[in-house]
Amino acid sequence: MTDLVAIARSLFVKGKGILAADESVHTATTRLANYGVPASAETRRQYRALFLRAPEIERYLSGVILFSETLLEKGNDKKLFSESLASRGVSPGVKVDLGTEPFSASPQEFITNGLIGLSERLLEFKKQGAVFTKWRAVVRIDGDTLPSAQALHENAKRLASYAKEAQAAGLVPLLEPEVLHEGKHSRARARAVIAETLKTLFSVLDEFSVDRAGIILKTSMALSGSESGKHDTPEEVAEDTLAVLMENVPPQVAGIVFLSGGQTPDEATENLAAIARRAKTVNAPWPLTFSYARALQEEALALWKGKEENVSSARSAFLGRLAKVSAALN
Ligand code: 13P
Repeated sequence: MTDLVAIARSLFVKGKGILAADESVHTATTRLANYGVPASAETRRQYRALFLRAPEIERYLSGVILFSETLLEKGNDKKLFSESLASRGVSPGVKVDLGTEPFSASPQEFITNGLIGLSERLLEFKKQGAVFTKWRAVVRIDGDTLPSAQALHENAKRLASYAKEAQAAGLVPLLEPEVLHEGKHSRARARAVIAETLKTLFSVLDEFSVDRAGIILKTSMALSGSESGKHDTPEEVAEDTLAVLMENVPPQVAGIVFLSGGQTPDEATENLAAIARRAKTVNAPWPLTFSYARALQEEALALWKGKEENVSSARSAFLGRLAKVSAALN
């Protein structure tokens, strides 16, 4: 377990964070289509290479979360992506859940699948070079009715089972109960739902005897819903986000990372900067950093458009955004 704690902590290096590059085939297909790139195994590989083989990412990234297919793929240099990342000091992680499906007890909500066969898959991922893993659950807010306590509890049980198995396999679990930004809710409601989600999660993690010091939490920021018509200031986001984390996340947790959740790259950067400032003021007990997908990728994808001649300018945009997000942590 000491090793796991050390690996988890090693992902929190000053000024560095984690790139989420673990879009499923379905999500990658939609993302590429948004930029006019037809999806195939090869365009997905090129999409991954755009980010994973960009020069100097090791200045800003301690880790990357990969999709399982990418763990077995190579860059144009014929080296496995996982090996070239590791040789540059960037730890490879992998998404191990198998996506969501409607929850039978409350069909407007989702539960995450992937526990069947998980221990075998974890051993394979470990052989393939992964040192940490991710499991994502989604929490949907709708008025005062959703999320249901039942869905929160079922997702927490699955996150805890996964975390227990990952730790047993010697892989750091990164637990992502994502409270969705989509919706008309207020920031106060988002904060209350994040609180409920975390309370449920940590109580179930204790029931399952998961070692808190050997997990990473990936969380949403407390934001007004994307259809609320309200735009929060970074200070408001930071105050509510730190308050809900201080109240509900045990101090032993190895560290906390944030998802971008559909914020623009600038919003995700400015909100992170305010959160990092506030964390110092309130003496937050855990290290904090980013683990963004869209906020880091968006500007580069808009330039790339699937064309080899745009790779260099797209990578410059990616590096530029990484530099800004990294500076936000100071
Ligand atoms: P976004 O930063 O695009 O929200 O993605 C993070 C992530 O890992 C979603 O599972």
